Formats: sequence, structure tokens, C-alpha cells
Amino acid sequence: MGDLISKGVEKDKNLMFLKMRKLVIANWKMNPNTESEAERLVLDVQKEISLEERQKSEIVFCPPSIFIKSVAEKLEGGFFVGAQNVFYESLGTFTGEISADMIKSLNCKYCIVGHSERKKHFNETVDDIIAKILLLLKKDIYPVICVGEEKKLTKKLDGVEGQVNKILQAIPKTKISKLIFVYEPVWAISDGKKPSVILPSSDDVLSAKLLIQKCLVKKIGRNKISSVQILYGGSVNAENICKFVGDGLMDGALIGGASLKAKEFIKIIKQIN
Ligand code: PGA
Repeated sequence: MGDLISKGVEKDKNLMFLKMRKLVIANWKMNPNTESEAERLVLDVQKEISLEERQKSEIVFCPPSIFIKSVAEKLEGGFFVGAQNVFYESLGTFTGEISADMIKSLNCKYCIVGHSERKKHFNETVDDIIAKILLLLKKDIYPVICVGEEKKLTKKLDGVEGQVNKILQAIPKTKISKLIFVYEPVWAISDGKKPSVILPSSDDVLSAKLLIQKCLVKKIGRNKISSVQILYGGSVNAENICKFVGDGLMDGALIGGASLKAKEFIKIIKQIN
């Protein structure tokens, strides 16, 4: 009996430890052009990150789906692979789509959902996003859910609470701790060539975190909200990461453009630690 209890305590400690690790997710978007470039990027990053650093944060590469397998094959301990998207049906006549089972079979631990670029270019709706999240949860894949306001207005965080609440309403309470939210203000995302010139302050991202936590309190109660990680995304680089993760108290970051440059991404991981 005592043994069982100590095993249970050990399991809880491990879970807390995993949750305390910062999450660094590289969103490569539709880059790079070739499989060999994708593999090179992963190898270049991994060789500069020590074992000790790998224990402090969880580093995830989300390549285009066609490169997931080759990237996964190159992964060393402490690094993980994720997908940038998944379809909301599990199987069938859906030309060009990729299912949750398929990404699971390639060892994806995470999957980005609700990215603003998918909403803009592929008209993804909140119902699509919810259906995707539910499917991912069934397959034990962590959904990395992007929320954020379209425009930088004087009324800050416009619509974010509504986005979060709509999603939370549809997810069973028992599954909420598996969700990862990313506060990604659409106006702060880089255009792929250069970072946005205007960025939120550390107070702004902290307000976003508190707003998301306020929604979580309503759903699962105050005691459980720290089990849900909340990240920042939008023009993150090695210079500004501390502002968001340090001063802004975010639990990690979703990184686009800067994750495609090995040196910059390595610096970000080292800063976050
Ligand atoms: P960015 O992209 O870091 O290039 O701004 C972030 C994202 O869109 O996930």
C-alpha cells in the first residue's frame, strides 16, 4: 500500500515537473524547401543544446507534414515533433487532408490548431477548431491552441475571452489539463521576412495570460488552472524572449520565423533556460 502511495506521489511529482518545464515550439510553417534542409536544421539545433538544457525545457519541432517522419527520425532525447494541422474527420474521402491517427503514427506529441493563418487562408471556423481539438485529445496528442486579437486596438485583447470560452465550453472538464493555449496577437506575427515592428509589452502578455486563466477558473476551478500551459507567439526572437517568458510569466513560446535560423533558435532556447 505504502509502495502504491509513493508511486502515486512520484507520478504527480513527474507531472508537475513536466508542467514546470518551459515549452518551446518551432512552427516552421511552409518551410524549408527540402527534406535535407529540414534534417540539417534539427541536427544543427540539437548539437548545441546540452543535456542539462534539454531537461529545463521541452523543445518541439513542427515541420510541414511531409517532413515530420524524417525530422522525427533525427530526434534526440529532450526534443519532440508536432504537426501544424490536422483534419477534423478521422478517415475517408478527404483529398489532401491528414488525420490524427496519421500524425500519431509519426510520433507527434503536439499539434497546432486554430492558427490565424489557417483561419485567414483556409476559412477555419471555431467549430472546425473544436472538432480538431476533440479528435486530438482522443488520440492523446496535445492541442496547441492559438487565440489572439486581429488588430491592435485601444480595447486590448478584443474577443480573446470569447474565443477561449467557446473552446472551453466544448471540451470535457477531465481533458482541460491536456490543452495548451498560445496567446498570439495576429498583429504581432511576422510576415515571414521580418518581425512585426510593434509588439505587445510584458504587461500585455501577462494580461492575456490572466484573462485565459480567468476563463479556466470558471471551467475547472482555481486549484487546477496551473496545469494548463499558456505560451506567447508573435515575432519572438532571442532578444525579446525574456520579455515574454521572464517578465510576462508565459510558460513558453510558439516561434515562427526565428525557429528557421538554427543560431537564433539555439539562442532562444538558451535564453529561456
Ligand atoms: P512568427 O510566427 O514568430 O514568425 O511571428 C509565429 C507564429 O505565427 O506561430
